[in-house]
Amino acid sequence: MRRLFPVTDMTAPNAQVNAVDREWSLDELADAYGYPEGAGTWLRANMVSSLDGAGQHEGRSQPLSSDTDMRIFGTLRGLADVVVVGAETVRQEGYRPARAREAFAARRAAAGQGPAPVIAVVTASLGLDLTLPLFAAPLVPTLILTGAGAPAERIAAARDAGVEVLLAGEGAAVDPARAVALLAERGLRRQLTEGGPRLLGQFAAAGVLDELCLTVSPTMTAGDAQRIAHGPSIALPTRFGLASLLEQDGFLFSRYRRI
Ligand SMILES: NC(=O)c1ccc[n+]([C@@H]2O[C@H](COP(=O)([O-])OP(=O)(O)OC[C@H]3O[C@@H](n4cnc5c(N)ncnc54)[C@H](OP(=O)(O)O)[C@@H]3O)[C@@H](O)[C@H]2O)c1
Repeated sequence: MRRLFPVTDMTAPNAQVNAVDREWSLDELADAYGYPEGAGTWLRANMVSSLDGAGQHEGRSQPLSSDTDMRIFGTLRGLADVVVVGAETVRQEGYRPARAREAFAARRAAAGQGPAPVIAVVTASLGLDLTLPLFAAPLVPTLILTGAGAPAERIAAARDAGVEVLLAGEGAAVDPARAVALLAERGLRRQLTEGGPRLLGQFAAAGVLDELCLTVSPTMTAGDAQRIAHGPSIALPTRFGLASLLEQDGFLFSRYRRI
C-alpha cells in the first residue's frame, strides 16, 4: 500500500509507513481513516466502482473488490458507531451482523464505542427476513429505520421479534436528513453508509453526505449496472475535495470530503 496523496514529507512522522509498498496493518489503516476530531455528526460512505462506473456486477459488489478493499471495508466498520444500509443491499449481499474484532477493541473502548457498530437497515416495505442472524442474533442489536406510513403490521412484527424500529419520515419513506439526526440523537454520530446506490443517492441529494471513501477498482464491466449513486439528479453538482489517495495492486482508495 502506498500513499499517493497527500504527498508526504519524508522527514514527517509516519513518512516511512506512507511511502513503503507493503500491506498496512489494521491499526495503520485505522489511523489513516479516523473520523475528524470534533466534527460532531459525520456521515461517510464507503463504495467501490469499476473503471467504467459500475457499482455492482451481477448484483454483487464483491467482483469489483480486493483483499485490501475488504480490509478497508472492515476498518471503516471498526471505526463507526453505526452502519446505515439500504434494504436491497441487505437482501442482495446477505448481510450478517457486524463482528467484534480484536484489532479495533482497544480503540473502540477508548472512544466509548460498543464492541461492534450498530447496523441500521433503511426500508419502506419492511420486507426483511427477521429470522436471519442480522436481526435474530446480532452482537449489537440491529435497528430498522422506516417511515411512519410503512406497513403497520410489519412494524409490529419487527417489534414483536425484538427489533427496534425507528420512524424517520412521515410517509413510508425515510427522510435521509431525519435519519442522520435521529441516529445522532442516540449518540451514533460516527456514521458509515455502505449504500446501496439508491440510498447513497438520497443522502447526497439531501446534502448530508460529508465524506465518500471510494475504491476505484481496476476492472471494466460494461453492462447496465447502477453507478454508486442513483436516483433524482442533484440540481447543482456537489463539490468534494480529495483528502487522501492510497494505492495497492492498481486499486485506488480515495477519500473525498464535501467542500
Ligand atoms: N458498489 C458498492 O460499493 C455497493 C455498495 C452497496 C451495494 N451495492 C450493490 O447495490 C445493489 C443494491 O443497491 P440498490 O441501490 O438497489 O438498493 P439499496 O439502496 O441498498 O436499497 C434500496 C432499498 O432500501 C430501502 N430504501 C432506500 N431508500 C429509502 C428511503 N428513503 N426510505 C425507506 N426505504 C428506503 C428500500 O427498501 P424496501 O424495498 O425494503 O422498501 C429500497 O428498496 C446490490 O447489487 C449491491 O451489491 C454496491
